[in-house]
Amino acid sequence: MKLSKNTILITGGASGIGLALAKRFVTAGSEVIVCGRRKEKLEEAKRLIKGLHILKCDVASEEERKSLAEQVIRDFPTLNVLINNAGIQNLPPLLKEPQSWENHRQEIATNLEAPIHLSMLFIPQLLKQNTSTIINVSSGLAFLPLASMPTYCATKAAIHSFTLCLRHQLKSSPIQVIELIPPAVNTDLGGKGLHTYGVPLDEFADHAMKCIEQGELEFGYGSSEKGRLASREQANELFASMNP
Ligand SMILES: NC(=O)c1ccc[n+]([C@@H]2O[C@H](COP(=O)([O-])OP(=O)(O)OC[C@H]3O[C@@H](n4cnc5c(N)ncnc54)[C@H](OP(=O)(O)O)[C@@H]3O)[C@@H](O)[C@H]2O)c1
Repeated sequence: MKLSKNTILITGGASGIGLALAKRFVTAGSEVIVCGRRKEKLEEAKRLIKGLHILKCDVASEEERKSLAEQVIRDFPTLNVLINNAGIQNLPPLLKEPQSWENHRQEIATNLEAPIHLSMLFIPQLLKQNTSTIINVSSGLAFLPLASMPTYCATKAAIHSFTLCLRHQLKSSPIQVIELIPPAVNTDLGGKGLHTYGVPLDEFADHAMKCIEQGELEFGYGSSEKGRLASREQANELFASMNP
């Protein structure tokens, strides 16, 4: 897809991968709206990126998703790109006491329910445009799960599956469906300092923009590219080495 002259909504775009994409799309000449839960992060992003639009929204809430779609479609009638990026990563133990279903439920609501529901809410708007795009941000862990975060990995595997189906259903429409598959990237995902071992954010974001511009429909980087393309046998070996 072209990088300029789009109107783009990025969920969770006030930090990390979403913010890095927002910066690059604005620099390329697109109008960008980001949403998130923390007002101070949104305001910080607005100070950083001239012309950025910000909206406070918790995408884990069905009501807030509906209000977000109404407001964005009303105020930005040229919207032609939805980037389902917002995500959380908890490490809720499955086998230890005390159990917290709320941790699992929040992950499912944010990482899985939100992208599915937002896609449904925005498809009628995207169909009105000459060309439009939905970008779903999954994870290398969709292909090779880490046993310590079973629900997170399951939500990402489900988003991969959903994206394949959505792309197939929309194949005769003007909507292109892209899956962006990050490896571990140095962001605050899961809490500050937990992903410092990941690839530098700018390096990953530059790669992602290049793939988007070149029309790649599914792409990873480094370990997530390897995992995405692994044979069943290679995947079994990689799974064993990741989960000693
Ligand atoms: N970093 C990695 O290693 C990695 C690897 C694979 C995949 N990913 C995926 O990449 C995406 C972006 O993550 P990141 O690494 O950039 O982490 P991040 O810096 O923590 O960004 C996540 C963003 O999502 C927002 N968010 C979380 N829950 C939300 C909710 N309920 N409603 C609205 N916004 C919400 C957060 O803002 P608020 O807290 O203010 O709402 C934050 O801006 C996620 O889907 C993640 O799963 C990341």
